[in-house]
Amino acid sequence: MTSSKPLRWGILGAARIASSALIPALRATGSRIVAVGCRDAARGAAFAAAHGIAHGVSYDELIARDDIDAIYNALPNHGHAPWTIKALHAGKHVLCEKPLALNAGEVAQMLDASRASGRLVHEAFMYRFHPQIDRLRELVASGALGPIRWLRGSFTYLLRDMSDCRWNPALGGGALYDLGCYPLSLMRLLTLAEPTLLSMAAHLTAPPAGGRGGVDHAAHAVMRFETPAGPVLGHMDCAFSLPFHCHFELLCEEGRLSLPVPFASKGVETRLHIGDQTETFAICDPYALMVAHFESAARGECALRFTLEDSLAQAQAMDMLLQAAHAHPID
Ligand SMILES: NC(=O)c1ccc[n+]([C@@H]2O[C@H](COP(=O)([O-])OP(=O)(O)OC[C@H]3O[C@@H](n4cnc5c(N)ncnc54)[C@H](OP(=O)(O)O)[C@@H]3O)[C@@H](O)[C@H]2O)c1
Repeated sequence: MTSSKPLRWGILGAARIASSALIPALRATGSRIVAVGCRDAARGAAFAAAHGIAHGVSYDELIARDDIDAIYNALPNHGHAPWTIKALHAGKHVLCEKPLALNAGEVAQMLDASRASGRLVHEAFMYRFHPQIDRLRELVASGALGPIRWLRGSFTYLLRDMSDCRWNPALGGGALYDLGCYPLSLMRLLTLAEPTLLSMAAHLTAPPAGGRGGVDHAAHAVMRFETPAGPVLGHMDCAFSLPFHCHFELLCEEGRLSLPVPFASKGVETRLHIGDQTETFAICDPYALMVAHFESAARGECALRFTLEDSLAQAQAMDMLLQAAHAHPID
């Protein structure tokens, strides 16, 4: 593959996030979208036509095509690991939605498949590509406000559609998978440490008839991150059964940093508050920045900034949170 050649993409799943974010991002970077994979031929054809994509095909046909270099996996969470591994074995690079998999065991299998195939996998945490996150990391690394002591991250909203895959345990539903993964990811990124759990409170749905376990629809966790400058406490809230609230802040020994729009940062002007000063960031598309970086890495021009080993550590922390949520639910 030459350095100037755009990647040829297949979209796995006629998903809302593909329509709203990734197809525009792929187009913005000049990529070619060759086909979309859909479980239903008529719906796939309609989705392809609506987005100017030439082919609507089945999932298996999509990953078998030899005119596709990379797959964007937009399936519900239960489909991330199995279909990413199939795509890797078919010689495709994979940009896979978050959370990368249902547990660390699945991520380890993806890591093995990536190494065996020589193809890349990247967890689509697009928020990490927004310049405000680079600036926040730079400020923390500089120690300008002293060591971090507390981190607080919230991501909640009301999801009234009970048919959504997020409410379905069989599809990898739950607020920790859907939303809690963001503040957890940012806490790990800022502390460069892995958490231990101090406390967890979670509201679970009732198990489906004949099934096992419900999903966590609201959860609060307190974690401890051990850093060279001492322990950091991370307070994390996530829910899709509460009104919208999304915020991230750091209390350092000598000041406070906060991001009013930490995660859903596409297409809005964002701000970083540093004590009583404010830095403003121009509107940008972090999905397009992520796609551009992934394409460069797939062409061998650079290494991925965020590795599968990092996704494995993220999944191990998620396993810890999920296990605690299900072990001690709030009635
Ligand atoms: N990075 C972000 O900003 C962001 C934002 C939202 C969502 N996400 C992630 O993106 C993924 C998809 O989320 P979404 O909200 O776009 O979901 P969605 O609209 O429900 O789409 C999921 C797609 O998965 C396919 N699918 C396969 N098996 C399915 C099943 N048993 N039930 C339902 N759908 C099934 C369907 O495609 P076909 O019918 O075409 O086969 C469906 O269109 C999730 O992993 C989510 O965490 C990421």
